[in-house]
Amino acid sequence: MSNPSSAAGIGATNGFSANGNQPVEYRRVYVWELPVRAYHWINAIALVTLCVTGFLIGHPFRLFYAQEAYQQYWFAWVRFFHFAAAFVYVFNFLARLYWGFAGNRYARWTAFFPFKRSQQQEIVDVIKADVLETKMHGPISTGHNALAGLIYFGTFLVFVFQTITGFALYSSMSTSWLPRMFVWVVPLMGGEFSVRFWHHLFLWFFVTFVIIHVYLAFYHDYIEGRGTVSSIIGGWKFDRVKKGDK
Ligand code: HEM
Ligand code: HEM
Repeated sequence: MSNPSSAAGIGATNGFSANGNQPVEYRRVYVWELPVRAYHWINAIALVTLCVTGFLIGHPFRLFYAQEAYQQYWFAWVRFFHFAAAFVYVFNFLARLYWGFAGNRYARWTAFFPFKRSQQQEIVDVIKADVLETKMHGPISTGHNALAGLIYFGTFLVFVFQTITGFALYSSMSTSWLPRMFVWVVPLMGGEFSVRFWHHLFLWFFVTFVIIHVYLAFYHDYIEGRGTVSSIIGGWKFDRVKKGDK
């Protein structure tokens, strides 16, 4: 794929020349509002902290100090950062849930569920163009494409699962009301071992998601050439102006 504009076929299907040297007009669109961007980056930092500290809790390594194990405190810090990041991550997620009702059309829940015929068509289109590479792209969404929206919704469900199992594990070591609300989860899932197993397993879901997600963000940035990566920092994307749009 040496020529991004022709490789994506954006120009070909949207009425522009596929020749990358042709001047093209763009419209600047404010897509990701501040609460969405703040949510995104707080979530990313909290999640990386949770993955790293969670991994260390599951696979603690031995540190050879002159001190006795009981005189060291590093593992308690690892657990402290896991729990602190957990609270940040949960309340940040609750704020995003609210913003799904209050935010602009790109942030709303309607962008995550492909109820409309056009969104279902777009899912097929994205699979054919991006995954199977058997077709040129049709029109490109300004916000999430319908497939991305659906996958984000799936990850939100995993966020909920990880929160429930995390607080269930925490409930046996805390007297605070929030973890205590999840005491019932432990017997329901067959005991602490089972909760811990599932909580650990989903660590690898997040690791996989982040690798593919970051790759796709840069891939779309390169192929579509309209500021995908910078949009999640500044909020703006660039839509090509079609003939007759003005
Ligand atoms: C731990 C790391 C990360 C996680 C868990 C994560 C998660 C997410 C989630 C859940 C969304 C949907 C946002 C919403 O609608 O509220 C999103 C969107 C987005 N993220 Fe990330 N992200 C991470 C890192 C990154 C990085 C490093 C980049 C760029 C370099 C990036 C670029 C984007 C972009 C461009 C979007 C909007 C995508 C679209 O148009 O559909 N993300 N991310
Ligand atoms: C969402 C991302 C999260 C990831 C990737 C994650 C990952 C992990 C992992 C891998 C472990 C080690 C399990 C084992 O023993 O093998 C762990 C332990 C634990 N996590 Fe999480 N976790 C997350 C969120 C949470 C949340 C929201 C809470 C809520 C408080 C939480 C509370 C705990 C507790 C209490 C433990 C056991 C700590 C111990 O026994 O010392 N986690 N986590």
